[in-house]
Amino acid sequence: MKVIQMNNAYEISKAVASIFIDQINAKPESVLGFATGASPVETYKRIIEAYQNGQVSLKDITTFNLDEYCGLSRDNVNSYYYFMKDNLFGKTDVNFEKVNFLSGLSGDIESECKAYQAAIEKAGGIDIQLLGVGTNGHIGFNEPSDSFSDGPFKVELTQSTIDANSKYFENDDMPHFALTMGIGDILRAKKIILIATGASKAKAVYSMVKGEVSPQCPASVLQNHADATIFIDKESAALLNS
Ligand code: F6R
Repeated sequence: MKVIQMNNAYEISKAVASIFIDQINAKPESVLGFATGASPVETYKRIIEAYQNGQVSLKDITTFNLDEYCGLSRDNVNSYYYFMKDNLFGKTDVNFEKVNFLSGLSGDIESECKAYQAAIEKAGGIDIQLLGVGTNGHIGFNEPSDSFSDGPFKVELTQSTIDANSKYFENDDMPHFALTMGIGDILRAKKIILIATGASKAKAVYSMVKGEVSPQCPASVLQNHADATIFIDKESAALLNS
């Protein structure tokens, strides 16, 4: 696991966006795993800028997102599909036919999850998976638990995740369940990039980088990946530096 500390979120976004842009320019049909949440938003802005400046085209990439809330349709403003459309896909030339998402509306979760895993395999696996980390150490929606998951599955969100994400929902209507890629899916990506910024991530960053590899801190499993890079700022690095 490589850890790169930068001065701020803007510097991180430039560095991570260039990794994606270089990957796409080297292999236009790249298979890319994306995350939602606050952590990747600046990076998506830099990729959009590069697209607008003619430095990259996303038209041939295939995408897989990490997770989706149960019960929300794609046009619900709080769905992760909507988030990706709003923050990246809709502002570039991404081909929506090559956008893959777990469906939180599926009536047959088992088939939905199996089909998603099969689609990743059929696409040739993920070239780069982008991640954020939860304050409780989750990646995707793999919450702290007693074992590492493998393929996609339905998860009950923990109170810490509900507390962190309910600010995006107007009432108390945040779904308590989601579908997520499993830890196995994430680890099978050829390259992994994780962004963690801000003081609220300091504990999770410390456990991920220095703690034992344990499903109680799912992100710690990245210590076992051959090509995982963690981008952190001063605030999220606070406990590593103390
Ligand atoms: C989002 C996801 C989550 C977030 C994590 C951090 O698709 O899978 O693991 O990356 O909850 O969220 P932010 O970036 O909002 O702090």
